[in-house]
Amino acid sequence: MLTEERIIELLNPIKDPHIHRTFEETGAVESVKVKADKEHVSVKVALANPNSGEQLQLQQEIVGMIKKEGAKTVGLRFTELPEEKRDAYMSEANEEQEANLIGQTGTQFISIASGKGGVGKSTVTVNLAIALARLGKKVGIVDADIYGFSVPDMMGIENRPQVRGKRIIPVERFDVQVISMGFFVEDNSPIIWRGPMLGKMLTSFFKEVEWGDLDYLLLDLPPGTGDIALDVQELLPTSKQLIVTTPHPTAAFVAARAGQMALKADHDILGIVENMAYFESAITGQKEYVFGEGGGDKLAEVLNTDVLGRLPLGQPYDEEEIFAPGIYQEDHPTGKKFLSIANQVIKRAK
Ligand SMILES: Nc1ncnc2c1ncn2[C@@H]1O[C@H](COP(=O)(O)OP(=O)(O)OP(=O)(O)O)[C@@H](O)[C@H]1O
Ligand SMILES: [Mg+2]
Repeated sequence: MLTEERIIELLNPIKDPHIHRTFEETGAVESVKVKADKEHVSVKVALANPNSGEQLQLQQEIVGMIKKEGAKTVGLRFTELPEEKRDAYMSEANEEQEANLIGQTGTQFISIASGKGGVGKSTVTVNLAIALARLGKKVGIVDADIYGFSVPDMMGIENRPQVRGKRIIPVERFDVQVISMGFFVEDNSPIIWRGPMLGKMLTSFFKEVEWGDLDYLLLDLPPGTGDIALDVQELLPTSKQLIVTTPHPTAAFVAARAGQMALKADHDILGIVENMAYFESAITGQKEYVFGEGGGDKLAEVLNTDVLGRLPLGQPYDEEEIFAPGIYQEDHPTGKKFLSIANQVIKRAK
């Protein structure tokens, strides 16, 4: 029977695609009218975000449902939920998502970004993670560079993650929990996935991994401002960003784009790390600014933040027992710089 009550009953369980609340909860069905001839129905529905791609699908769904009940024509109008209501639901939806992503709240996500490739994001990610762990924090790394993963190599990880039930247990090294695409490919073969697959992979790095209770989860982003970087911004609405640049003014200019993207997504920028800032002669102690000077400061000025550290060119000490080619030891000059950066991150990432 085509009645107004019946139509409300039909529509109530539908979910608003943007806030994942039912129409019943949001009071989305604003009006329903069934004409006397019982053939024409008009409905007005309020959505959190009308005129989106999802609306078209929803429209077909709703019209289909009402026609199935016997209506010949359906007039459907979408309006916008009142702003206050919408904002409240939106922020709740974001919070829930954040809590669910690794199954808990209280973890601060920090993504390490740059404009260009090869400036030292992965180096900064792994060494900052280890520095935070050296300061007693519980830390994880998601190597979000799906094609160009390098975290396992830098940390000298040779184990693979264990699987317990349906959950993946991250690999621990130097007291840091790590998950990387590198753990899931055979023989270092190249990966040819694109678009949606990548997003899914990244989501499972959060959701299907047993992270335990972490203070910080660091994300090593792929270079640039591409799809993945964007996905991460959406996936982690409260992530903070650390931006790595070399001292060359052009590099800083490119890095500014990564920063602007973070700001657009409402992500706080924690600060800048200037990598390969200088070369210091072991013999004379003299500093040479081989890649130029001023990039970090310029970037900090553009993004209204600070340079948290300047890392010189140089390799970790050679160690025979512990193989981890990208990790600076705690007593290494660069290792000490990372401790100082870690301390600043702890203060700022609150
Ligand atoms: N301060 C430094 N001194 C010497 N070598 C460095 C320094 N920082 C990084 N490197 C080296 O430079 C190379 C690039 O660094 P890294 O892989 O960390 O950059 P990235 O930004 O993550 O690169 P990609 O964009 O490819 O992911 C690596 O071989 C790394 O060991
Ligand atoms: Mg990298």
